[in-house]
Amino acid sequence: MFTFSETDTDHNFWRRITPALGAVLPDGMKSTIDYRNKLILAPMVRVGTLPMRLLALEYGADLVYTEEIVDWKLLRAERYINEVLGTIDYIDTTDGTVVFRTCTEERPKVILQIGTASVERAVAVGKLVQDDVAAIDVNMGCPKDFSIKGGMGVALLYDLPRAKAILEALVATVQIPVTCKIRVMPDLEETVRWAQELQSTGISAIGVHGRTKTERPRDPVNEEAIAAVAKALHIPVIANGGSQSITRRHDVLKFAQRCATTSAMVARAAEWNCSVFRPDGPLPLDDVIRRYLELSVRYDNSPSNTKYCVQMMLRSLQETPIGRRLLDSQTMQQICDIWDRGEYCRETQLRYHYAGIKGRRACRPRTLSTDDNEANDTKKQCVEESNNQNDHQIVEPLHEENVCFIRSNFADDTTLPKSKLYLHALRSGLGRAQYEVQQKDKLFRAFIRLDGQRYTSSFWEKNKRYAEQAAALVCLLKRGVESRDELIRNGAMLPMERPGTDAEETENGV
Ligand SMILES: Cc1cc2nc3c(=O)[nH]c(=O)nc-3n(C[C@H](O)[C@H](O)[C@H](O)COP(=O)(O)O)c2cc1C
Repeated sequence: MFTFSETDTDHNFWRRITPALGAVLPDGMKSTIDYRNKLILAPMVRVGTLPMRLLALEYGADLVYTEEIVDWKLLRAERYINEVLGTIDYIDTTDGTVVFRTCTEERPKVILQIGTASVERAVAVGKLVQDDVAAIDVNMGCPKDFSIKGGMGVALLYDLPRAKAILEALVATVQIPVTCKIRVMPDLEETVRWAQELQSTGISAIGVHGRTKTERPRDPVNEEAIAAVAKALHIPVIANGGSQSITRRHDVLKFAQRCATTSAMVARAAEWNCSVFRPDGPLPLDDVIRRYLELSVRYDNSPSNTKYCVQMMLRSLQETPIGRRLLDSQTMQQICDIWDRGEYCRETQLRYHYAGIKGRRACRPRTLSTDDNEANDTKKQCVEESNNQNDHQIVEPLHEENVCFIRSNFADDTTLPKSKLYLHALRSGLGRAQYEVQQKDKLFRAFIRLDGQRYTSSFWEKNKRYAEQAAALVCLLKRGVESRDELIRNGAMLPMERPGTDAEETENGV
């Protein structure tokens, strides 16, 4: 358990670390997993993030797969210990997004699934993550265009030499078990032969989804094909594809039995109600959602990912009043309010805020570096450069706030902050606001000149348009057109600044 206090330092908590938290084995010794008799959360893009994986484990899953993460995304990320959350984060430092977040609680049970078409990149990822996860899995079943065009997913099944080379290299270089997940082929004998070829690489187990690459999720699953593979291999086979017949743990066991395996992985049935793994039977959906929200808040999951997962749980209930409230929600707070977890969310977010949590909101170019001074220099340099560019001898006062632009807060173009500011300036006879945008790495920040003052948001946006809108929001706030309470309510601002760090009008012309 992690505790927080208002005096916790916010310096460098995203510390790059070596060695990793995971158990370090003596050189050359491999860790193992017994893949027999396991009920497993299957890999699911967007769904298989940390809160859902922990929920599945809590309800009785034996192992959990991550969503598929493409190799280069992990290789571009930097690994940090997030001391506020007690997690290990792989952060895309160009925009501050979390590529992969994990924690010690799931360390012995989490299997990282990668999307790859390259031996070198797969091995590099394996070496990078092997101390943080229990095993690594290569996705050889994804039929999506982006996967196939990149030679990944199911494309690997049709390029057996490459598929084998990737698995062989991983098995030879990493200290953790290596597996792959395939689909069945239209021809049963070919499926069995391919699976045997893959087995020969030294992998520890193989997941078999009983549908071909052209079959859709609603098509019946080919349990006989899975059984044929299971009977032909000596490594454990993990049956997959049975969600249509699964609403409880007992159904998963039955599915595995019909497929002649002792292990099964579940995707959609767990996405709909993760308590499907519970030995005592599934729980009412509201209970599952409430617990999922607690874990999402606890691990600072993004509101958009949380909202997506809850929408997937609601399914046909999306048309109910609760479903519509969820659809309208933007912030974690708003989502949690629907399921009576608002107070928990507020308290936790404040605690994290005081403990100095960083996330997308705190991301500035290069601020994820351990050198805070360097980051400050970057920011300062930006502002000075802008002054030089425009050759202004007199530097107007700068008003700064940490405000982000959330597009869905604005129903149509006429209500956008820039439009509102245009009207405000016109009506007040101030002339047009002048915008200037700066870019560092892949982030943008805008400065507005109006009426002898300058306005900016300290929140670096992902694109130029958003940066201008965020700066316009700051301008409207400072000029009394927008209210601070409203911006906090719709998630554009955080509830309160840390005591003593109120950024209001701190930078007077830098
Ligand atoms: C939302 C969603 C995301 C998925 N993402 C992945 C993925 O990242 N990697 C993968 O191998 N399969 C992925 N799949 C496929 C599932 O792992 C599984 O093979 C398929 O849904 C069949 O199993 P089921 O009948 O239990 O749903 C995904 C499925 C769903 C529904």
